[in-house]
Amino acid sequence: MAPETLSPRSLTGGYGRGVPDAIFAHPRLASVYDAFDGPRDDLAAYVGIAGELEADRVLDVGCGTGCLAILLAGTGRTVVGVDPAPASLEIAKAKDGAAAVTWIQGDAGRIPLVGADLAVMTGNVAQVFLADEDWAQVLLAIGAALRPGGNLVFETRRPERRAWEEWAADAGPVTVDVPRVGPVEQRREVTAVTLPFVSFRYTYTFLSDDAVITSDSTLRFRSREELASGLAAQGYRVLDVREAPDRPGLEFVFITERTATSGSAKA
Ligand SMILES: C[S@@+](CC[C@H](N)C(=O)[O-])C[C@H]1O[C@@H](n2cnc3c(N)ncnc32)[C@H](O)[C@@H]1O
Repeated sequence: MAPETLSPRSLTGGYGRGVPDAIFAHPRLASVYDAFDGPRDDLAAYVGIAGELEADRVLDVGCGTGCLAILLAGTGRTVVGVDPAPASLEIAKAKDGAAAVTWIQGDAGRIPLVGADLAVMTGNVAQVFLADEDWAQVLLAIGAALRPGGNLVFETRRPERRAWEEWAADAGPVTVDVPRVGPVEQRREVTAVTLPFVSFRYTYTFLSDDAVITSDSTLRFRSREELASGLAAQGYRVLDVREAPDRPGLEFVFITERTATSGSAKA
């Protein structure tokens, strides 16, 4: 199927369906998410960027199980974590240090006006927004939640690195012995590549009771130019595009600044 005939809303997963993917929203899958995600070597760079930008009030959009939000709050910053998946937020709230974060169950397209110095989207959250109008709405809503001159920093996979080919070649299974849950097996299957959209399915088998739970997702891979023009259209200035230090060559890390007018259209 030609990419231009695809409707992002017809695809599985992603913003616009109203419900986050099972991997974030199903209580049993949310409870093993961190264990399969492994050590978060990616997050120190974001704490460093918050320091560099002198950000005291930080909004973590798509905060998931709260790893970065809690890390940032531990540095004395005021942190708000927003995510639509209650199951992921429950995991976040149960962690040490979680009480220092304000947790909001909600969608990136409808963020409270918090006057943040910095908004972050880690873990490639930016790729869950499939339709152009949804990505534009997210940028607009984040712009309205930032103070004038505030920063939006996010990462997204470089499409030219074709990560899905590696995913298809490395389907698993991977088994992790998750504390208080027991051994869980994960398999990954790439189910469709209709660029710029890539769909995949995770299948988890909880070996303690043989429960099998699947999660279907679709991500959008945007080019650097596409990202830059989308940001400009919503009133952001791109200050820098960096590497993710833990994944050299694989990611764009956009460092942007809200201009005086961004986010004002619907604020
Ligand atoms: C790969 S996880 C990353 C979580 C977290 N940022 C991290 O680095 O661990 C993607 C997150 O995006 C969230 N998400 C999905 N749709 C969203 C939406 N419409 N608005 C905000 N977050 C969303 C999911 O619930 C999930 O927690």
